[in-house]
Amino acid sequence: EKGGYDYFMLKEIAEQPAAVADTLLGHFQDGRIVLDEQRISDQDLRDIDKVFIVACGSAYHSGMVAKYAIEHWTRLPCEVEIASEFRYRDPVLDRSTLVVAISQSGETADTLEAVRHAKSQKARVLAVCNTNGSQIPREADAVLYTHAGPEIGVASTKAYLAQITANYLVGLALAQARGTKYPDEVAAEFRQLEKMPEAIQKVVDSLDPVREIARELADSKSVLFLGRHVGYPTALEGALKLKELAYMHAEGFPAGELKHGPIALIEDGLPVFIVMPPVEGRGVLHSKLVSNIQEIRARGARTIVIAEEGDEVVRPLSDYFIPIPASTTLLQPLLATIPYQAFAAEVAAARGYDVDKPRNLAKSVTVE
Ligand code: M6R
Repeated sequence: EKGGYDYFMLKEIAEQPAAVADTLLGHFQDGRIVLDEQRISDQDLRDIDKVFIVACGSAYHSGMVAKYAIEHWTRLPCEVEIASEFRYRDPVLDRSTLVVAISQSGETADTLEAVRHAKSQKARVLAVCNTNGSQIPREADAVLYTHAGPEIGVASTKAYLAQITANYLVGLALAQARGTKYPDEVAAEFRQLEKMPEAIQKVVDSLDPVREIARELADSKSVLFLGRHVGYPTALEGALKLKELAYMHAEGFPAGELKHGPIALIEDGLPVFIVMPPVEGRGVLHSKLVSNIQEIRARGARTIVIAEEGDEVVRPLSDYFIPIPASTTLLQPLLATIPYQAFAAEVAAARGYDVDKPRNLAKSVTVE
């Protein structure tokens, strides 16, 4: 049932092109983005003036990625919050607030309680969920299902990429409802998304060097992950994967914060992962990250850089260089996350841990 793979997680990493393609399927009809269920009128959707995204763990990271797209495409303010924090701080919610709840299982207690709190305050709730008939979509006003298929590995992989994909569709649906994007622009964004499975396949097919790096670094005490813009949530996701699977101390943070404290952690031999912005976004952020890499190397750390295959500026500055295909900035997390998944799985295997069932963790967390 593992389809020839040693662990479900490896099978699920390989299934990511299909997870993304299947999540897009049927959601662009007659020139419009369509959700799976919509029990909220088009007018109410148009009147939304603020978006909150609530989720836990990896789903939360997918929401952080979505924030960049939603604000850019809709010009609506969008906040992303850990579901277990959301309802305890009395967030400002009303009938023109859209709360997007993201959950693979649809049964996560923290996320479900955040949904209930939002509804008690008259906010509209849209669920992004991978499990048909689960509780969160049942209580929501609108639903968009991810089609990753069942995910057995406790560490989320294909459900995560499917969540990012579905979140983009939510952003486009809102932009379409509000008229902040013309129909041909929405169509063009959708076509970009449709190209991603092929690029994802390329990354999936080229993970052997990442596994080699993982075996080399498997004894590290600590690993840092840096990124900017959508590379920041990608850094958090890379660190989470490593913590949960390899029980290794790992931290992700925005590279711009380095000089505000974390640079003190940089020491000889410390592995530091960095995601470079794609060539499309090259400019200020690219050159700032280049400076960060130089600062890190000057202090003896080892840099493992994920960048576009054509990024010749960065290649010579990297101790290890992991090329990924070119993409737009917003879509890059669909590619840049994959090496982190493979890295964490391989470090865990090298340390002799159960890749599919890490200690102390449950696939679905149904208690608050
Ligand atoms: O089922 P959910 O998407 O609501 O689960 C949320 C988190 O518990 C989940 O993403 C968790 O962080 C994963 N183990 C991460 O790999």
